Amino acid sequence: MPDGVLRLLTCGSVDDGKSTLIGRLLYDSNLLLEDQLSALQAESGDGSDLDFSYLLDGLNAEREQGITIDVAYRFFATEKRHFIVADTPGHEQYTRNMATGASTSDVAILLVDARNGILTQTRRHSHIVSMFGIRHVVLAVNKMDLMDYSEDRFSEISEAYVTAAQTLNFDTITCIPVSALKGDNLRKKSVEMAWYRGPTLLDFLESLDTLEPRTQQPFRLPIQWVNRPDADFRGYSGTVASGQIHVQDEIVVVPSFRKTKVDRIVTMDADRESAQAGDAITLTFTDEVDAQRGDVIAPSAEPPDSSDQFRVQLLWMDQEPMLPGRNYEIKIGTQKTLAVISDLRYTINVNTAEQVAARTMNANEIGVCNISLQRTVAFDPYESNKQTGAFILIDRYTKQTVAAGRLEYGLRRATNITRQEFNVDKSARAQLKIQKPCVLWFTGLSGSGKSTIANRVESELHALGHHTYILDGDNVSHGLNKDLGFTDADRVENIRRISEVSRLFADAGLIVLVSFISPFRSEREMARSLLEAGEFVEIFVDTPLDICEQRDPKGLYVKARAGEIANFTGIDSNYEAPTDPELRLDTTKLSVDASTSEIIEYLRNKGIV
Ligand code: ADX
Repeated sequence: MPDGVLRLLTCGSVDDGKSTLIGRLLYDSNLLLEDQLSALQAESGDGSDLDFSYLLDGLNAEREQGITIDVAYRFFATEKRHFIVADTPGHEQYTRNMATGASTSDVAILLVDARNGILTQTRRHSHIVSMFGIRHVVLAVNKMDLMDYSEDRFSEISEAYVTAAQTLNFDTITCIPVSALKGDNLRKKSVEMAWYRGPTLLDFLESLDTLEPRTQQPFRLPIQWVNRPDADFRGYSGTVASGQIHVQDEIVVVPSFRKTKVDRIVTMDADRESAQAGDAITLTFTDEVDAQRGDVIAPSAEPPDSSDQFRVQLLWMDQEPMLPGRNYEIKIGTQKTLAVISDLRYTINVNTAEQVAARTMNANEIGVCNISLQRTVAFDPYESNKQTGAFILIDRYTKQTVAAGRLEYGLRRATNITRQEFNVDKSARAQLKIQKPCVLWFTGLSGSGKSTIANRVESELHALGHHTYILDGDNVSHGLNKDLGFTDADRVENIRRISEVSRLFADAGLIVLVSFISPFRSEREMARSLLEAGEFVEIFVDTPLDICEQRDPKGLYVKARAGEIANFTGIDSNYEAPTDPELRLDTTKLSVDASTSEIIEYLRNKGIV
């Protein structure tokens, strides 16, 4: 008899009978409370079949009002076992919630409607639960009562599913014909389907052997916060993600890989000799070893790996497509930094399991890519530890979780390349030029006057004896960026490259003038983040669209309106105006001369010229 709690995830849309199935299972197992029972009878009204979905749809209604979280966990127990059901709402944003539920579940119950059979959605759910490491699936072929309990129909669906799921990493696939409404094969064997010889759903769930428990894996404590109430005490707090720890165990702090020993295990109640997965603890060390929030504490004999480049598998969840080259926030356990998708290798066609070449990913797509992080982090491959091998990506502006994924392995490139230290550095180069390097970043619509003003500013600076360089969209597009067009993805890559180039030129000690539409806030912020504080000066050349269009210096607006140019900024491509630029120039009021003076004045005040 397997022991321990079994964690289930139910997948399927509302119409497949997900809520009815769980509701009925609880009812048949006499697990409903009195008040739930009478509410159920009242709600179902006319005395015909009880509406079991009511039990869970109540939860959905709450969720829609934003009262509860995305995934609701329901607990129930039979004589043989305890269960936790991760119930995820079936509507639209289903993959977002599914990913959360899947990473902590042992078994997935995929519901299909016997009338419809296997749908693309069933296949997508299967890929997702496999990706997040669920090893056991149950295909509950529901509404068999509406198909006259047909054995042929069941065989057809289950054979199709088993064939489709062959490429996925499941240890067991169990197909069960059920009627959630009537209770067939949930707890009691169906009289109507005497031809079915397999287990009922509950029999199966009660007897399923699951994976090695988290407590048996190597110890991992992601540090949530550094606990330093006074000068005498320094502890590292967090919830044990996996494994066990004892006082005097030899440990290592990753990614610094500094070694020490556990001195004390402090908890809310008292000191302890040991702790295990799930416990909230504070560790102190025998030596003065510095660790910070986000670091992972592990046994020195079995440390996690560290890297800043990864091969990952990713589920894209945002309605906005993924933009390779864009900086997203990444969270791995308690570690947070920025990440860029450096190379999208392929996406997966869930219907055929084929790998498809792609340049972007849309909502609910699964893909494999390389990502590059701003700093080195501790990790385990997801395969060996779900806690330290999972990550999410967050949009920096909307704060939405846009993707969830698994770290497959670290890429070696970063590990084997160390930065060269050179004797002559940025300040030495700048000193010789008697100036402070900086980047003047001009952003605004096409025809707003960016290049004209930048040109004039450069002339002034040159006349004042400063060493400058100008990077201009039109010019760079003939060389460095000639492979790029004007799709959102190409614009992101355009600005990523220019940000890096402007960083290099600033490092050379120059005053760099950058004149690009640079329509997206995210990329302008990335350019800023590459420089030191005060070095990035964002100048918003604020000319309204209608004025740019009247001026139309290159005749491009006329062409764009005539449909001869696609993705034209301001017309059928977005411009996100700066919300807090260092300088905003209203060119409807300021002449080129006045704009130039304003910029030079700003640079004087900041001691740059
Ligand atoms: S950015 O959006 O990627 O920053 P960039 O500043 O390099 O654009 O290039 C903009 C210049 O390219 C415009 O000033 C215009 O001359 C030209 N151009 C050609 N097609 C487009 C387009 N679809 N949208 C905007 N500018 C375009």
